[in-house]
Amino acid sequence: MSVTSILFSAITIMLLSTTIATESTASGGGNPKATNFMVEACKNASTKSQIYDPNPITQEFCVLSLKLDNRSAEAKDVHSLVHVAIDILKGQVATANDNVKQMMHDTKNGTSTMRSLSFCVVDYNRMVSILSICDTMINEYHGRTGRADDGLLSSELPACVEKVDKPFIDCWLGLLGMEVKKLLDENIAVGMLVKLNFYLASII
Ligand SMILES: *[C@@H]1O[C@H](CO)[C@@H](O)[C@H](O)[C@H]1NC(C)=O
Ligand SMILES: *[C@@H]1O[C@H](CO)[C@@H](O)[C@H](O)[C@H]1NC(C)=O
Ligand SMILES: *[C@@H]1O[C@H](CO)[C@@H](O)[C@H](O)[C@H]1NC(C)=O
Repeated sequence: MSVTSILFSAITIMLLSTTIATESTASGGGNPKATNFMVEACKNASTKSQIYDPNPITQEFCVLSLKLDNRSAEAKDVHSLVHVAIDILKGQVATANDNVKQMMHDTKNGTSTMRSLSFCVVDYNRMVSILSICDTMINEYHGRTGRADDGLLSSELPACVEKVDKPFIDCWLGLLGMEVKKLLDENIAVGMLVKLNFYLASII
């Protein structure tokens, strides 16, 4: 995963507080249980992120995030966990995107703020489109009939998730310039979930 981890540098250099993101991500969940499999996968993903990332994801953040969707408790392989994690990420992107659109209603046309917000909507939509392709990869992997030669290479799924890095950073930079805390916090929560997806996909 050396090439991937080098390409995946933009999110890595963000000075993120995992504490903030853990709180905002954990707030919506009920109380589904964490299975041994989830905990073990989260341990492996956080160990991997500690090797490659100055702002690693913690095992706790991983488990709290996965518990937001009770289907994570049914996962028997890491592909299924990533499938659930992608949905959780898509949900956070949708929330962040809705609030960007909301703010556009209160923003004057022709301003730089309006332009940054407009680009963010495009960036978030692009993230969702890319994640849908990653999802399709997982579905096709599970639909496979046992032929080894048409399988998914272990590097393909993290490489797919990694493609959301650019639109994510583009939106982040636009929001940074605006200093709107709510939108920025939601964007950072998106970034933490991108990391989580990437490192979960990397332990396959
Ligand atoms: C976690 O890592 C250990 C040691 O490499 C491995 O045996 C185990 O299968 C991994 N489990 C998951 C869920 O990734
Ligand atoms: C997951 O939660 C939903 C509602 O939040 C519920 O309808 C469903 O039965 C739950 N599934 C499992 C497997 O617990
Ligand atoms: C801003 O532009 C959009 C689309 O170009 C338009 O629908 C909207 O009415 C405009 N809003 C204002 C306040 O001018």
